[in-house]
Amino acid sequence: MSIQNPMLRKNRFKLGIFAANCSNGMSVTTVPERWDASWDSNLRLAQMTDDAGLDFLLPIARWIGYGGKAINFQGGVLETTTWAAGLLAATRQIAVISTVHTAANNPVVAAKQIATLDQIGHGRAGLNIVAGWNAPEYAALGLSLPAAHAERYAYAQEWIDVVQKLWQTQGVFDWDGTFFKLKGVHSDPKPMRGRVPLVNAAGSGEGREFAVRNADFLFTPAIDLTRSIDEIKALKAQAAGVGRDVDVLTFAHVVCRPSEAEAKAYYDHYVAQTDWEALDALVALQFAHAQSFPHDLLAMIRESMAAGHGGFPLTGTPEQVADGIQKLVEAGFGGTTLSFVNYVDEFPYFRDEVLPILEKRGLRTVAPTSVLEPV
Ligand SMILES: Cc1cc2nc3c(=O)[nH]c(=O)nc-3n(C[C@H](O)[C@H](O)[C@H](O)COP(=O)(O)O)c2cc1C
Repeated sequence: MSIQNPMLRKNRFKLGIFAANCSNGMSVTTVPERWDASWDSNLRLAQMTDDAGLDFLLPIARWIGYGGKAINFQGGVLETTTWAAGLLAATRQIAVISTVHTAANNPVVAAKQIATLDQIGHGRAGLNIVAGWNAPEYAALGLSLPAAHAERYAYAQEWIDVVQKLWQTQGVFDWDGTFFKLKGVHSDPKPMRGRVPLVNAAGSGEGREFAVRNADFLFTPAIDLTRSIDEIKALKAQAAGVGRDVDVLTFAHVVCRPSEAEAKAYYDHYVAQTDWEALDALVALQFAHAQSFPHDLLAMIRESMAAGHGGFPLTGTPEQVADGIQKLVEAGFGGTTLSFVNYVDEFPYFRDEVLPILEKRGLRTVAPTSVLEPV
């Protein structure tokens, strides 16, 4: 029996949790309450957000940390597919997405892993596809990252084509491609609805062509909302041009407190205790290999990279945080992830004070239809 995958609900601004599987989450801070990313903390957070009706959990697949003086930012990372399996078994309604590097995961293995996740969660799995950008991480894996985006995405395209064919084909088939030569392959089980929601976060031209061709959800930073309005329109038009509908999502970092002064004071406090060495390594890598953050804006957002990895700042009272989320809705975003310095300590206040405001404003209405009907 499958149940509704919250990623497939229409007319609802989606809210998810991002990077809770990584030590420090999204904040490059050294404060003692920084996120530990242990399994027990992840399980508590997942059950809390599941009970609160959030839509999805999105992990980061990371193989080496960014380093730093006092911390190794995102150096402690729970592996995303096994993490998703555990959480799908321990939750009831939230979607749990696995993040997969195409170059590090054989597509035949990945197709079966995702189908297995979907069975564990009765139809609540999702797949975030990473085509590669972090060269030192590739070196650590014994892989070399192609310099050209065109090559990275050609590989990713064939990878997802193999996965989709395995999910769609009943019998055995051969695959004779550029990157994969497969003999007598098949995949059983298959995802509950034939496939799972696909996510991508490309920033480059080649990456975005890949995303609109394949993904249901494209993540992009929300730094300048005037720019986001045009960006979202252009992405939706690009998707419509290939006969597809793609939702554009973003990521946000929350510091919510009863008064604006308290929220700002905590923001200033933890940002002042940033591990600047780790931050500089993070920013340098973003410049070197990826186009996920527009490079003209990247230099301006050093502080917000420290505060929440460049996520849209939601700092203030519950009303102010809800206003920030409303601005994302008005810009055309279909949803956002949330991160906190300490997710488990801070999410309950967001749940109790911000979610009711969003519901009152009609931003979290659920329509009964879904994109893919349950089987
Ligand atoms: C929401 C989101 C999730 C991401 N997840 C990962 C991840 O898990 N692992 C990773 O290496 N990169 C991750 N990235 C980075 C993107 O995959 C990377 O920025 C993208 O490949 C760079 O774009 P480009 O290839 O078009 O230059 C994520 C980015 C965003 C915005």
